[in-house]
Amino acid sequence: MDSMLIQGGRRLQGRINISGAKNASLPILACSLLTEDNLILSNVPSVTDITTMRHLLENHGVTWQEDVAGVSLNAGHINNFTAPYDIVRKMRASFWVLAPLLARFGEAKVSLPGGCALGARQVDLHVAGLAAMGADIAIEDGYVIAKTMGRLKGVHFNFDKISVGATISLIMAACLADGETQLMNAAAEPEIVDMCHCLVKMGAEIEWIGTHHLKIIGKKKLHGAKHHVISDRIEAGTYMIGAVITKGDLELYGIDYNIVENLGLKLLDAGAHIEHSAGRVRISMNQELRSVNIDTRVYPGYSTDLQAQFMALMTLGNGTSVITENIFENRFMHVPELCRMGADISINGHTATVRGVRELKGAEVMASDLRASVSLVLAAMAATGETKIRRIYHLDRGYSHIEEKLGNCGAIIERISGDGV
Ligand code: EPZ
Repeated sequence: MDSMLIQGGRRLQGRINISGAKNASLPILACSLLTEDNLILSNVPSVTDITTMRHLLENHGVTWQEDVAGVSLNAGHINNFTAPYDIVRKMRASFWVLAPLLARFGEAKVSLPGGCALGARQVDLHVAGLAAMGADIAIEDGYVIAKTMGRLKGVHFNFDKISVGATISLIMAACLADGETQLMNAAAEPEIVDMCHCLVKMGAEIEWIGTHHLKIIGKKKLHGAKHHVISDRIEAGTYMIGAVITKGDLELYGIDYNIVENLGLKLLDAGAHIEHSAGRVRISMNQELRSVNIDTRVYPGYSTDLQAQFMALMTLGNGTSVITENIFENRFMHVPELCRMGADISINGHTATVRGVRELKGAEVMASDLRASVSLVLAAMAATGETKIRRIYHLDRGYSHIEEKLGNCGAIIERISGDGV
């Protein structure tokens, strides 16, 4: 497995182009299963989660053609309705093939994703929603086996809890269902909005996009479309924190401030300076870092996917910061690793108390999930001395060309291939 060596104490300065959003690309790629025509996508990032989705779609019979302009998918000849454990266990987003396969072909067999580093992460809401649309669903030998005679039926469905994944599943299913679906207490993340815009280009009828209550009129067929995926607000947010933690000055291109504003407001409170114009955010830091509290919420609240990175920043704050994780049951795996670097953090249930320290020191640390990994990269860039981060394959799941992007702005980062566990 690869490791990463980072020499700390370097100020980030320069410009970074933000890649397309992984978490918008993944469901949009699954939408290719809803039509026999070509779906042509640009701005899909080159990260390993996208490669995993490609393998899964190809396993079902989707053709994938790629060139510099983007990727063209065709699901005109689907020959396999099973998503195997070996692929689904690598990435939960694989579960998103269930709804489109079921809605278009009336059958699908998809492995349960199982638990992951963030906790149990159920799929009960996906299953309950599809069952309410008339699917016959059984769970056997670790697989969800779903069937329907004829089309799924439109439904009024209220999610017990807001879920990004379950909202995506039911939107996809409703687009090909018979009649009208209304989804209440739905998630409204920008990535879901982007998927809805793509589906509308494919002929879907979706109203009240971007709200927690969606209305979808099912169609017998969807058609091909071209779509440019939105930029990755979590990647952008990560680099914004990178500018602040290294007391640097970064210009980020390809991102609009409004989708990172929830983070921007917290960084302003912490002492950062931010300027923005269309498609550009400039962020710099040249004063004492103030400790700020955050609690993670569904969009437009503060994103759980930027919690670990903000915690890395707060380890160097001038006081105490209280960080509450409300979305996942186990998303503090980065805490012991940050503490190895000299951070002072204690956890009580869903709350971490971060008492700022004067400096972090380079150490050997282990990445445990995608955002935990990048929080260690941020901490390492601000620390004194050298940090070695093991298991950085987690980082490659969601950050495209991270060494080049940070390296071009002054970071000293080296990847060491095949360096033990
Ligand atoms: C998506 O995961 C994202 N993944 C996550 O990004 C993100 O952290 C999360 O949404 C929240 O914003 C992708 O887009 C690929 P959920 P998802 O369904 O869909 C519970 C990253 O770092 N729940 O909103 O799995 C669940 O256990 C990742 O890029 C149920 O109880 O998130 C969790 O506690 C990691 N039953 C909470 O809801 C269900 O059926 C939120 O999950 C579904 C979810």
